[in-house]
Amino acid sequence: MSWFKRERKQYFFYEHDIHSHILPGLDDGVKRIENSVVIVKKMLELGIKRFSFTPHISFPSPMNTPEIIHEKLSELKGYLLNEGIKIEADAGAEYKVGEYMLDLIQEERIASFDGGKVLVEHSFVAPSPSFEEVVFRLQNKGYVPVLAHPERYPFYAGRLAERVRELKRRGCRIQVNLLSFVGFYGNVALHGAKELATAKLIDHVSGDIHSVKQVELLEKFLKSKEAGVMSSLIVD
Ligand SMILES: [Fe+2]
Repeated sequence: MSWFKRERKQYFFYEHDIHSHILPGLDDGVKRIENSVVIVKKMLELGIKRFSFTPHISFPSPMNTPEIIHEKLSELKGYLLNEGIKIEADAGAEYKVGEYMLDLIQEERIASFDGGKVLVEHSFVAPSPSFEEVVFRLQNKGYVPVLAHPERYPFYAGRLAERVRELKRRGCRIQVNLLSFVGFYGNVALHGAKELATAKLIDHVSGDIHSVKQVELLEKFLKSKEAGVMSSLIVD
C-alpha cells in the first residue's frame, strides 16, 4: 500500500518491508512458524508486496549466519506455499554493529538483501565505537549500509537530523519504524520520526515486527487518522 499521500502526491511507499523479525526461532522475534504465517498474511492484506526479513545478528548472541537465515527463509516460503501463498521475499539481517563484523566483512560472510543492502543498528545504550569503521568497510565491499530506526537512539536526540544528513551524504540509507509514529517506543522516537519525515530524510519505513501483537498495532496505525496527520506534517 502506498500512504503519506497528499493531493495525489506520494511521499514515500510502504510496499517493501525491509526490517522484521518474522523468520521463526532465530531471535527475540517470532518463535512459531504458525505465527510467522499469520503475520505475513496480515502484511499482505495491508498491501506489502515484498519482504526482506532481517533477524538479529549480534555478538555473542544471536550469531545467526547467512546459511541459517536462508534455510529458514526457504522453510517459511515452503510453508506459505503449502497454504497457497507465494511471496516475494529475500533475507538479510539486522546487525548490531561491533568489531566482530570486521572479520565477517573481510571474509564476505555478510547477510545482505535487495542487491547488497545491509541493515545495521546501534545498541540503545551508546553508539557503537566501531560504527564508522564498519560503514567504511561495508561500502568498500560494495554494500549499502541502512541504519535501522535512528529515531530510537537516545544519544541522537537533539542532533538527529544533522546526524542523519551526514550519514546520507556518506551513502548510508535511513530506515524508520512505522510504530515510532504512534509513540510505541516512547516520546524520543515519536518526535524523532516526525522530525525525519518532515525533513524528508527517510529512505525506508518498515514494521520491525516481532509479534502478532505488533502487526495488529501496525494495522491499527495504517488505518488510523494519525497516518493522515503525518502526511499533513510533510512539507512539500
Ligand atoms: Fe529490528
